[in-house]
Order: sequence, then C-alpha cells, then structure tokens
Amino acid sequence: MRSICVMNQKGGVGKTTTSVNLAAGLAKLGRRVCLIDLDPQGHASLHMGVDAFGQTPTVYDVFSGKRSLADVKQLAVDNMWVVPSDLDLAATEVELVDAPGREMILRGAIERLCQQQPFDYIVMDCPPSLGVLTINALTAAKEVFIPLQPHFLALQGLSKLFETTALVKRRLNRDLVVSGIVLCLYETSTRLAADITDDLMRFLEHSDPKAPWKNARIFESRIRRNIKLAEAPSFGQSIFDYAAKSPGALDYGALVAEVVAGEVAIAPPITPVSDAA
Ligand SMILES: Nc1ncnc2c1ncn2[C@@H]1O[C@H](COP(=O)(O)OP(=O)(O)OP(=O)(O)O)[C@@H](O)[C@H]1O
Ligand SMILES: [Mg+2]
Repeated sequence: MRSICVMNQKGGVGKTTTSVNLAAGLAKLGRRVCLIDLDPQGHASLHMGVDAFGQTPTVYDVFSGKRSLADVKQLAVDNMWVVPSDLDLAATEVELVDAPGREMILRGAIERLCQQQPFDYIVMDCPPSLGVLTINALTAAKEVFIPLQPHFLALQGLSKLFETTALVKRRLNRDLVVSGIVLCLYETSTRLAADITDDLMRFLEHSDPKAPWKNARIFESRIRRNIKLAEAPSFGQSIFDYAAKSPGALDYGALVAEVVAGEVAIAPPITPVSDAA
C-alpha cells in the first residue's frame, strides 16, 4: 500500500484539486483508494459530493477517539472511499494540545483500517498549515507530494515545509520521503514558471543526501490552469466524471499514470524464474 500526504502550508496552490483527482484517477484504474480529508474547510469531501453536514460522522470523531476510520468512510465512486471532514476539525488543534502521542493518532487509525479492509492507496489532503493535522498526516504517510504553483514567491516557505518533513522523519516516521512535486495552475505561456521549475531542480540537486526530499522529482505532468478543474467541485465530481476530455482531465490523467508507473519501483523485487532454483 502507498500512503501519500498532499501538503503545502501555502493556501490555494492545488492541494485539494490534486488529492481528489489523483485519488479518483487511481480508482478509475482499479486501485482501491481511501481519500482522507484533513482540512476543516472540508473541500475534498464536497468535491467528491460527500456531504458532511448534520450528524454525519467525520474525521473529527476519529481524532476525538469516538469512531474508527472504518465507521466514518463513505463510498464516493467505484473503488474510492472518502473520510469526510467539517469545521469541527478546526477544534482538534486545541483539543489535542496536551494529548500524549497526539501526532500518532491518524497513523494508528489507518493501521486499524487497513487490517479490516485492504487499500492500494491512502491519499491525505492537508490543510494550509503545519499544525497537528498536517503532522498527523506526515506521521501516517510514507510519501509526500507537494503541489506548487510556480509563480513569484512560490519557493518562499518551501524550506520551512522541507524542514518539517525532516523533523517528522527524525522524530516520528523514519520511512518518510518527499517523492514528488506537482506543478499546479501552470502557465505554459510564461517564462516565469519555467524559471521557477529550473530553480527548484537546482535546489533539489544540491540538497543534503540524507534529506527526505533528496530523491524528490518534479512530475513531468504539469497541471495547466483549466476552468473545468475549478468548476468540477460544484458538481461533486472528479474531473474525470465532470469533463473527461478537458485539459484538466488530460493533465491529471498523465499525473496518475506517472504515479502508477512508480508502483514498480516500490514493489518487492521479483526473482527471475531461472534464478529461483
Ligand atoms: N489547474 C487549475 N486550474 C484552474 N483552477 C484550479 C486549478 N487547480 C486548482 N484550481 C482552483 O483554485 C482554487 C484553489 O485550489 P485548491 O482548493 O485545490 O487549493 P488548496 O491548496 O487545496 O487550497 P487550500 O490551501 O485552501 O486548501 C480552487 O478554487 C480550485 O478549484
Ligand atoms: Mg485544500
């Protein structure tokens, strides 16, 4: 199983759009996916048409120890479950302030979920902060994907983000790696986006070999600005169901293909038949 934390403390860079469409694209390819909405804004839940109003159990109930992820998850489309969130989750930050092991709650909950029901992918949509919810996602995940909008000041804040992954790796989750950077809201017509991409590549190349981001790559698939991606959430659908032929669906489809190609790299080596004896 791959568990992916989609994070960037900067707001509006494409975290939710990427989490939802990555998860939905993987589900379309037959992977069993659980998308966990960790943002009190609840945008990922709404994007998939999962209504978390009223008495609906949410991920808040998991953090407060009242329910398991298995109780809370809802089937959104074939092969894709969503663990919804709502504004209650905003209280978690304060409520857990003195709780021992508060960074490990989600990790334990995911382990229990996977004992009951196997998933190929867990995708976590983080809020735009580096608080306890994001730390829980980093502690539970094996991989981090960072959506980045390549414009002026895009790289500002990135060092803080990377430092946080290094801290979590050191203290809480030795397996954590930053595996990819997804360029979102990409302007093909501007030189600026290309310049920022070059700067980022240079930064990654010159990083400490032990840093969790050392082997991070910038995904080849650039997610262009496309109005259909902005419209899809209002219809409670992923881009693949809302506008399957749009540039947004093509770009996220290409990203999903790259992610799936990466499965080979993490699969256990297969012993050739001739060597088996
Ligand atoms: N490639 C794109 N083309 C057009 N609109 C996009 C694209 N990606 C995201 N958007 C829109 O930009 C806004 C911000 O995107 P999104 O919600 O995915 O960012 P976010 O990082 O999750 O934001 P937040 O930090 O608030 O959680 C949304 O209205 C979304 O529909
Ligand atoms: Mg979001």
